[in-house]
Amino acid sequence: MLKTKSTLLNALSGKSVLVWGARMTGMGLQRLLRSHSNDILGFIDSDPAMQSKPVCGLEVFAPDSLQDIVKKHPDVCIIIAVSIKESEILEQLKSLGLANVETILYSDYCESFYTIDIMGSCNLKCPSCAHGAQTGKYPQGRMSKKSFEKVVDKIISENELVTHVSLYSWGEPMLHKDLPDFIRYLHSKNIAVALSSNISIDNDKLLAEVISLSPEYLKISLSGFYPEAYNRTHTGGDINLVKSNLYRLKYYIEKYKSHTFIDVNYHLYKDNNSLNLMKMQELCDELGFSLSSTYSLIMPLERCINHLEGNSDPKTVSLNQSLLVSVEEGVEATKNNKSDSCPFRENQININWDLTVPVCCTVFEQSGTTVAKDFLSVTTEQINKAKGKAEICKKCMAYGLPAYNMGFNKKRWAEIASEKISLDRQTK
Ligand SMILES: C[S@@+](CC[C@H](N)C(=O)[O-])C[C@H]1O[C@@H](n2cnc3c(N)ncnc32)[C@H](O)[C@@H]1O
Ligand code: SF4
Ligand code: SF4
Repeated sequence: MLKTKSTLLNALSGKSVLVWGARMTGMGLQRLLRSHSNDILGFIDSDPAMQSKPVCGLEVFAPDSLQDIVKKHPDVCIIIAVSIKESEILEQLKSLGLANVETILYSDYCESFYTIDIMGSCNLKCPSCAHGAQTGKYPQGRMSKKSFEKVVDKIISENELVTHVSLYSWGEPMLHKDLPDFIRYLHSKNIAVALSSNISIDNDKLLAEVISLSPEYLKISLSGFYPEAYNRTHTGGDINLVKSNLYRLKYYIEKYKSHTFIDVNYHLYKDNNSLNLMKMQELCDELGFSLSSTYSLIMPLERCINHLEGNSDPKTVSLNQSLLVSVEEGVEATKNNKSDSCPFRENQININWDLTVPVCCTVFEQSGTTVAKDFLSVTTEQINKAKGKAEICKKCMAYGLPAYNMGFNKKRWAEIASEKISLDRQTK
């Protein structure tokens, strides 16, 4: 049984609060706490990419700084706000000798995280993505403002606490003309907003308006600094437009004193992991943006399953060869993290632009993976029941694909990648 919002606010009242987890869950929680005048000392995050920049105007401390903070603030209360890895954090607190510090788990108050895929299409055709993999026609569209508001209202009415919502899954949110209104609507309900975009979009007015509204988190997805590498993996995009938009973002952040956290998410391949990566890091350092890198995966899930079953198509085979960690290697690296439960199924609810509900965010094709035809006419219980019956989960779990998609055991991924010959121009 989940605890109530007022219990949480009472438990934190008058304390020096540290939020462990500076990403979306933490950002959403800080929005709630600050709106109730709770004093927040800052965030704790073990990811170095998050530590050097303020998040929502607050400092992000490394876990090593905790002992000093606790000495200065004996009334400290740490609230762990992450969607996974809670147990790892509790272990870390023990190893820092801080097991006695008052700790609250946000998951005791909130167990469902929502994604509303407002746009059902994209302007790019990245070969690693469902949009690049499709050969035939597939349903494309956008969510109307009316439906969006109904969806948000329903989510709020069914949950004690909703502190953030993501507005992307398979679509490109910056193509939706109503995006600013969606951000306004969520903020009016005190809900933080997460976006992810290729920003290879020539719409300066929208960019300015979005930033002026300070959505809490904007991930910029890209895969190269020079067109040669970028074009292969962000097919249809224009890296010069992306770079100019990065400058525009910086300009609008300063102009509107926006607190949007910009996370440049660099997708790693064999042909972009040396000079291209270094140049993008330099640009991000210049602009004060965080750069996080991720080993590029093959998406969607259906394509991975086909590949592992030996039914791959030539495009997927060639894509797999361009990866620093192939699907097979990624699955092998995460085999010890295989589990009977799946974080994508247990604590996430995705709502597609057409109100259908997929079993999780990793699947794209609707046949056999849709658990509800209309989010507005089903209960959470019905969704969860239907998820429990989804046939695709059996195969997916047997192959260990949830752990592969979570990218567990990063150390092993890095070792595998370091054994590959880089096809990028080399740094000196
Ligand atoms: C399918 S995209 C849709 C949103 C937007 N078009 C974008 O690319 O950011 C959803 C998420 O998938 C991530 N993504 C895209 N291609 C990926 C890949 N090959 N490997 C890992 N993550 C990827 C993106 O960074 C993004 O946050
Ligand atoms: S990854 Fe994003 S930018 Fe690339 S095709 Fe998919 S939705 Fe579009
Ligand atoms: S088991 Fe696979 S298909 Fe099922 S919810 Fe998890 S990731 Fe999605």
